[in-house]
Amino acid sequence: MKKLLLLTSGGDCPGLNGVIRAVVKAAEHDGNWQVYGSRRAYCGVLEKPNDIIHLTSEVVAGIHVRGGTILETVNKGNPTAFPAEIAGEQVFIDRSDELISTIKQLGFDAVINIGGDGSHRVSQHLFEHGLNIVGVPKTIDNDLYGTDYTIGFQTAVDTATEAIDRLIPTAQSHNRVIVTEVMGRDAGWICLHSAIAAGAEVALIPEIPYDIEAIKAKLTSRFDKGHGFANIVISEGAKPIAGGIVSKQSNERGYENPVLGGIAEQLASQIRVALDLDVRVTVLGHIQRGGTPNAFDRVLAAEFGVQAFELVKQGQFGFIPVSKDGEIKPISLKEATSEYRVIPLEHSLITSARAMGMCLGE
Ligand code: F6P
Repeated sequence: MKKLLLLTSGGDCPGLNGVIRAVVKAAEHDGNWQVYGSRRAYCGVLEKPNDIIHLTSEVVAGIHVRGGTILETVNKGNPTAFPAEIAGEQVFIDRSDELISTIKQLGFDAVINIGGDGSHRVSQHLFEHGLNIVGVPKTIDNDLYGTDYTIGFQTAVDTATEAIDRLIPTAQSHNRVIVTEVMGRDAGWICLHSAIAAGAEVALIPEIPYDIEAIKAKLTSRFDKGHGFANIVISEGAKPIAGGIVSKQSNERGYENPVLGGIAEQLASQIRVALDLDVRVTVLGHIQRGGTPNAFDRVLAAEFGVQAFELVKQGQFGFIPVSKDGEIKPISLKEATSEYRVIPLEHSLITSARAMGMCLGE
């Protein structure tokens, strides 16, 4: 029997458990592979004693409907810059060679890493250093290059849309402007999808730095027409033309990204001062990452899991299955990490939003 190691890395999202289940079921159906899971990304391999569990169809039964990941995850365990303490000093060390040799010593023939952009950059590095690795695309931000959809995105859009739908009647009742901050670090996919789905008047995305004057004009004309409320959706990574993103440094060692959040409150203050309107802010935050995966994400998780296992079986390492034009096909990890997948300015989502009179802050 061959041995396959599976892990989830980076931020969690709905659908991860569906991939785990699909890989285990496909491997058992194949009959030549045993599947194991490293807990908390690569920490399960690097810790002593290691924390690796045997994944059987009994262990994964029914998990595809649950959010989160039964393997747990971390986004501060990059093996190429792993946080450590040496002689009382906090340092980062490259443990990738140690990781690869431990995986091989433990008898694993291949690894599947379910991750986002940062995780797959690490996978590409490990692949170049001799690890037999395959990726699976996940992130609610939907910003992995080469795939139309990542696991978790469609569920996050549903969650954001439902939240905005709930906010509209309260905004209407109080004649308020409601500003909803959604996730989306570099790309506005969640923002624009949920804004269109919920019928927002304004959608502000990282791809289009916004002009406060355009937003003021939109709100003024809306309230002048006698409409008593307005609905603004803004990505956490959106920024004004003259200004930057709103963020703070994380205090977690090894956490490489700035922690985003607060742009909605900044915008709300500007609107209050400029237009004397009642404005309320809702930051959806990690609510978008939790909950039951929707049917789309469950199906995508199953297809990605099965295809990732096929790549392993065929020895096609350094690859990742993606969803492109309705088909699942492999591309190289190198291509998938070559750039971010932001919304192209000529994309139909943008032109459709504009055509319906939605203000994109321009
Ligand atoms: O990358 C996915 C994401 O959900 C981003 O949208 C968000 O900025 C980030 O992760 C939050 O990460 P954390 O869970 O570490 O706060």
